[in-house]
Amino acid sequence: MPAPGFRLLPGLLDAAAQSALLQAVLTACADAPAYRPVTPGGKAMSVTMTNFGPLGWVTDATGYRYQDRHPVNGQAWPPIPEALLDLWASNADADTPPDACLVNFYDAGARMGLHQDRDEADFALPVLSVSLGDTAVFRIGGTKRGDPTTSVRLASGDVCVLGGEARLAFHGVDRVIAGSSRLVPGGGRINLTLRRARPR
Ligand code: SIN
Ligand code: MN
Repeated sequence: MPAPGFRLLPGLLDAAAQSALLQAVLTACADAPAYRPVTPGGKAMSVTMTNFGPLGWVTDATGYRYQDRHPVNGQAWPPIPEALLDLWASNADADTPPDACLVNFYDAGARMGLHQDRDEADFALPVLSVSLGDTAVFRIGGTKRGDPTTSVRLASGDVCVLGGEARLAFHGVDRVIAGSSRLVPGGGRINLTLRRARPR
């Protein structure tokens, strides 16, 4: 069982909503191209990343942080697409908007190790995650690294919310099931995570 406060909303986005969101994401990425970040330990990540919104989450040799500029082109991040702000207001928090949307691109071999999201000011606000394209084999456990974990499949159009105790749950992506969706041209998965980085 995932930690209390984990909510999976399967198929919240129908096919038309997925296509429209994909188009909005790809259009915004023209101004904020995905790049391959490195961890503070110096390892290249297997996902490529970009961000939308006033702040973006970045990692490099100096550490993890939120910043208001794309680290490669020095430009402000593009705005968060309206459809994502609506999803946040309906499913995360109606009073405090998100100020950061991390965009992760997974190709067939990409994964993400177990980690906590803890670079934000206020853990009372949840993380809302939207999956597009190929299905992910997502893993979520408890608030301690050694806690038991559960595997959850995240398919295109699924939304999940990490709130309550699950806000600080360890989570990651074991693998992506190549060919499980035809949404993304050329295949792969796009995950969008909305967060409030600054204090409300
Ligand atoms: C993340 O934890 O940043 C991404 C999770 C996911 O890709 O589903
Ligand atoms: Mn995360």
